[in-house]
Amino acid sequence: MGSCDLSLLTPLVFFSLLLASHHVQVHSAIGVNWGTVSFHKLRPSTVVDLLKANKITRVKLFDANPDALRALMGSGIQVMIGIPNEMLSTFNSDLFVRQNISRFIGKGGADIRYVAVGNEPFLTSYGGQFQNYVVPAMLNLQQSLLRSNLASYVKLVVPCNADAYQSNVPSQGMFRPELTQIMTQLVSFLDSNASPFLVNIYPFLSLYGNSDFPQDYAFFEGTSHPVLDGPNTYYNAFDGNFDTLVAALTKLGYAQMPIVIGEIGWPTDGAVGANLTAARVFNQGLINHLLSNKGTPLRPGSPPADIYLFGLLDEGAKSTLPGNFERHWGIFSFDGQAKYRLNLGLGNRGLKNAKNVQYLPSRWCVAHPSRDMTQVADHFTRACSEADCTTLNDGGSCSQLGEKDNISYAFNSYYQLQMQNEKSCDFDGLGMVTFLDPSVGDCRFLVGVTDKHLSSSAKSMARWSIYHICIGVVVWALTA
Ligand SMILES: *[C@@H]1O[C@H](CO)[C@@H](O)[C@H](O)[C@H]1NC(C)=O
Ligand SMILES: *[C@@H]1O[C@H](CO)[C@@H](O)[C@H](O)[C@H]1NC(C)=O
Ligand SMILES: *[C@@H]1O[C@H](CO)[C@@H](O)[C@H](O)[C@H]1NC(C)=O
Repeated sequence: MGSCDLSLLTPLVFFSLLLASHHVQVHSAIGVNWGTVSFHKLRPSTVVDLLKANKITRVKLFDANPDALRALMGSGIQVMIGIPNEMLSTFNSDLFVRQNISRFIGKGGADIRYVAVGNEPFLTSYGGQFQNYVVPAMLNLQQSLLRSNLASYVKLVVPCNADAYQSNVPSQGMFRPELTQIMTQLVSFLDSNASPFLVNIYPFLSLYGNSDFPQDYAFFEGTSHPVLDGPNTYYNAFDGNFDTLVAALTKLGYAQMPIVIGEIGWPTDGAVGANLTAARVFNQGLINHLLSNKGTPLRPGSPPADIYLFGLLDEGAKSTLPGNFERHWGIFSFDGQAKYRLNLGLGNRGLKNAKNVQYLPSRWCVAHPSRDMTQVADHFTRACSEADCTTLNDGGSCSQLGEKDNISYAFNSYYQLQMQNEKSCDFDGLGMVTFLDPSVGDCRFLVGVTDKHLSSSAKSMARWSIYHICIGVVVWALTA
């Protein structure tokens, strides 16, 4: 496996040189989750350029998307690929390694370092439907990696939701009783392969789901409600949650197991507590906290090895079952534009926007100014059931629009989703195409992007619309 030995060596040598020449401290590495459940997808190469421009060297994918992996080839970015929960029961590990790992890895390839087996497969709301497939799939995959000589390079992990463990105070943390056996097998496997425990931590969801949750405890700016736990005091939800996991791992005999944060972040829209300021304060507070190397009361001086922010881009086609905020987790909007000032601690002071984004033409669909809108309800409902109107609701960036602008917003979302197909702005004569941007204040009327070069022929436009409707239906079916 000569080519892989080379790619293993190079970063090590480089890193030692870096240490020798600059005396840099070893910090937590900041990566991002790159989800693609979007109606308007950027070209993968545009996304990889965005990662590079922001000096982001770790990325987590939710599957083994071949276009993303191809775009990541030769980028030097370390990659975690995922295996969706639904695939675990019929999982063919040899084939997976061949199709989704070996093919991309090696010199000049994609630097796949981790495979996430399932995504939060033990989530309480799944009612246990995936949990028995996780360990067998992992053991099979490990055998396949061994046979391909990749086991020392590609590590297996299982991203867990923080609902896998519980307690009133961090030091009493334990895994949910029904998971004890699986967790014992899982952490013993992780330990014998020097793999970290992966956990997703969301103080936003604690705040959103619980009106008693002290708001300042979700952030890193100090709190009037610290949690007292024996000799330790907790000033933020992240530390408290992290140490609850440390305690749970300690109970199973793995007090030293490395922990990686697979997802963490704050949404900017679609709920009262989801806004640009809160997201910036949370993410910047988190990054500063990690880079301070302070660690937590149970792991002083030892913060998580890596964290992956959730997420890179907004994903406007995600299910809104958790809440309207679900489509607004990006540090960048769907088209790769920075939403707020954020210093990732990676060398740039702020975020750099995506370049060479392929937008559709600058035109919007709005409610016809001189038509009577009393019959618009069905059109409005249908437009918003297919396209994204989440910003119109309470706490959203467009919740202050009047009735007519509301309709325009819905019409435009649908029109862009249909790749500006002329017919999609008809709405029985109630719609009208305009060349003037109807955006007001923080409420942005989007112009779609395309991951392909635009063709001027109407025929190809129509084909694209059908393609997007199909994607919409598939996404709907998967998430409904
Ligand atoms: C490889 O990954 C793709 C994308 O996630 C998936 O559709 C396919 O089923 C995977 N192959 C195997 C053999 O699991
Ligand atoms: C933004 O969210 C924070 C908490 O998440 C909240 O305290 C604040 O009032 C919100 N700001 C606005 C303008 O809604
Ligand atoms: C705009 O639409 C949203 C979502 O349907 C609704 O909650 C809101 O009340 C509407 N506003 C007006 C002024 O009609």
